[in-house]
Amino acid sequence: MGRPGLDWAPMVKTPGVVRIAAVGDIHLGRAAYGPPIQTVLGPVAELADVLVLCGDLTDRGDPEEGRQLARALASVGVPIVAVLGNHDYESAKVPELSRILCEAGVQVLDGGDAVEIHGVGFAGVKGFAGGFGRRALGPWGEEIIKLFVREAVEEALKLETSLSKLRTDRRVVLLHYSPIAGTVEGEPKEIYPYLGSSRLEEPLIRYPVDAVFHGHAHHGTLEGKTVGGVKVYNVSLSLLQRSFPDQPPFRVVELRTERREGGEVERRQERESDRRAEPQPGRRATDQPAEVPSESSGRGPLHLST
Ligand SMILES: [Fe+2]
Ligand SMILES: [Fe+2]
Repeated sequence: MGRPGLDWAPMVKTPGVVRIAAVGDIHLGRAAYGPPIQTVLGPVAELADVLVLCGDLTDRGDPEEGRQLARALASVGVPIVAVLGNHDYESAKVPELSRILCEAGVQVLDGGDAVEIHGVGFAGVKGFAGGFGRRALGPWGEEIIKLFVREAVEEALKLETSLSKLRTDRRVVLLHYSPIAGTVEGEPKEIYPYLGSSRLEEPLIRYPVDAVFHGHAHHGTLEGKTVGGVKVYNVSLSLLQRSFPDQPPFRVVELRTERREGGEVERRQERESDRRAEPQPGRRATDQPAEVPSESSGRGPLHLST
């Protein structure tokens, strides 16, 4: 069984449909980038039933950044589920940061129990790096390489355990690092191995999942699919802002939760809101000027001013 749902969760706006808003890489605390956090979060309650946050919530993992974010999240008005990102680990104060967010009502996932909201199960981990497919780093040679690879394997195992506990018909996965190469395309090829790991894709093949959200690849690609055909969304804030400059900077995906006559839930995403956000010609993140640096380089002009 997953963690019980939230007692205070308001009704879904459309019976039988759960709308999930997702965004990552808010990087709260990084100066001179993007709209104020209230502008990012303001339209969520109107457009969605659940908010998913895909890591790098803060820029340095400073508890004060966490408190600023918590104050903004307190007025969102829908349940919030989150995973942390690598930036949230920078100050080595993850327990305090997690506590601050939890006290603001955010369900911070890191494997273990999943959470159920409006009949949809949410499982999440931060994930880790290591690369993709046949070029992925293997556990061979120096001990430090084995430890590096083991970290990605353990993140994947935590996700698998979490998914195994869910009994919902609908399942959504939150990550910070990407599970596939497809959604990091657009970043410099040299940093692909730092942006995700194919090991995170393995649980998404073993368990039925309806949608996967991740961040971290600020200059990647909006959508991709696992080898099993599950849709993967890169919801990095800066990517969304560049791709859809006239829309709220989060992705909305709708899932049907009502059962059909035969008792089986229709295992297909309803993407009315998502269709609204289809990539426009000439607007893909990969078309952005090459001089815009990646967040992974640590030199980006990003992010959100508060
Ligand atoms: Fe980031
Ligand atoms: Fe990141």
